[in-house]
Amino acid sequence: MRPEFKTRLLQAAKTFGTPLYAYDWQTIATQLERLQTAFGTAKIFYAMKANPNVGILKRLNTLGVGFEAVSGGELERAVLAGATGRQIVMNGPGKLNADYIRAKEIGARIILDNADEAPRAAKYAAGAETLIRVNPGLQVSTHDHLATGNASSKFGVSLADVPTAVQNAERAGLNVIGLQMHIGSSIEDPNDYALALERMAGLAKQIGARQVFDMGGGFGLQFDLAPLATLGHQAAHAFGASELWIEPGRWLVAESGVMLTEVLERKRTARAFAVVDSGMSELLRPMLYSAVHPVENLSSTRANTIVDIAGAACESGDILARDVQLADPQPSDILCISVAGAYGSSMSSHYLTRPRPTEVLLENQQWVVLRRRDTIEEILRNELE
Ligand code: LLP
Repeated sequence: MRPEFKTRLLQAAKTFGTPLYAYDWQTIATQLERLQTAFGTAKIFYAMKANPNVGILKRLNTLGVGFEAVSGGELERAVLAGATGRQIVMNGPGKLNADYIRAKEIGARIILDNADEAPRAAKYAAGAETLIRVNPGLQVSTHDHLATGNASSKFGVSLADVPTAVQNAERAGLNVIGLQMHIGSSIEDPNDYALALERMAGLAKQIGARQVFDMGGGFGLQFDLAPLATLGHQAAHAFGASELWIEPGRWLVAESGVMLTEVLERKRTARAFAVVDSGMSELLRPMLYSAVHPVENLSSTRANTIVDIAGAACESGDILARDVQLADPQPSDILCISVAGAYGSSMSSHYLTRPRPTEVLLENQQWVVLRRRDTIEEILRNELE
């Protein structure tokens, strides 16, 4: 975390209230530069599911970044951000008819996830430019929920079925401009890409030259991107592809964001807890993936102690962090839960009729409100009409 950002957080918590998502634009810009330096000419389609805030998308759009969208709502976000057809790629294993129609209308490219998807895609997006998502069928080094490139996952077309998928799409009148893969998220071992890309490149002799090769996202935050980029360009080269595409989500935004939360209570059962004003409704990743997010106490220089950070939900699993060592948290202290810029706010919910947090961005040393907290009235509105 940049020190210049960190020193502004207590003030942000005071000004905007907690729980609060705070992002640092400088960190996003730096991550983008690192990506561009490593991947050179590759086209970036930011997987907006990581953080779809329109304010962030608009800023990325002005820097030439395209978007990967997986729902009708995400398509509209891309449009709102200023992206035009070719800057958008529509993906997902279960697209609605309306999604094909809207994607075609916008001029977005469509990724087919299934060898049998072509007739429906062609019916609603006749003549569209498409890619086929390939499942390279490997053991992927990440949490089970986040592995998509293993043979038994629901994603993509198995290697052996790719020629049929291409044929089906072309017979339906779709233009197959290339292949796509996405082996998973938070990948730990870069060798997974090496293996997947090698398998992908092996398809070139069966399906022939194509314009695009899309290697997906999933890059672990600790990766050295340069060797990965070389492998990607090599795979693209195998298809004679003039375009390498990448779809990073987490890489761009994870480290830019923190969630600030206030300590409400200290308590002790057989374990010691700090109970805070957020929880699984605001940050689901610890509960869903056993994700570990660093936690610090911004308010205190008291001696360190070890506690669990407990959410406010009536669920035993609602623990934001276990066995955290931090300055002894006391009521009204502000805790900072970091590396929360990706899949934090985007996966927050109204569970327990809790308003989703405000989101703010530090840009040119100023806080910009990107999303204000919901009101309870807004949450209830659709039930009362
Ligand atoms: N491309 C495709 C087709 C994807 O499905 C995803 C993420 C990405 C790109 C971006 O992956 P990234 O670079 O962000 O790892 N909710 C989970 C992550 C789910 C990722 C889903 N797909 C989490 O909180 O870790």
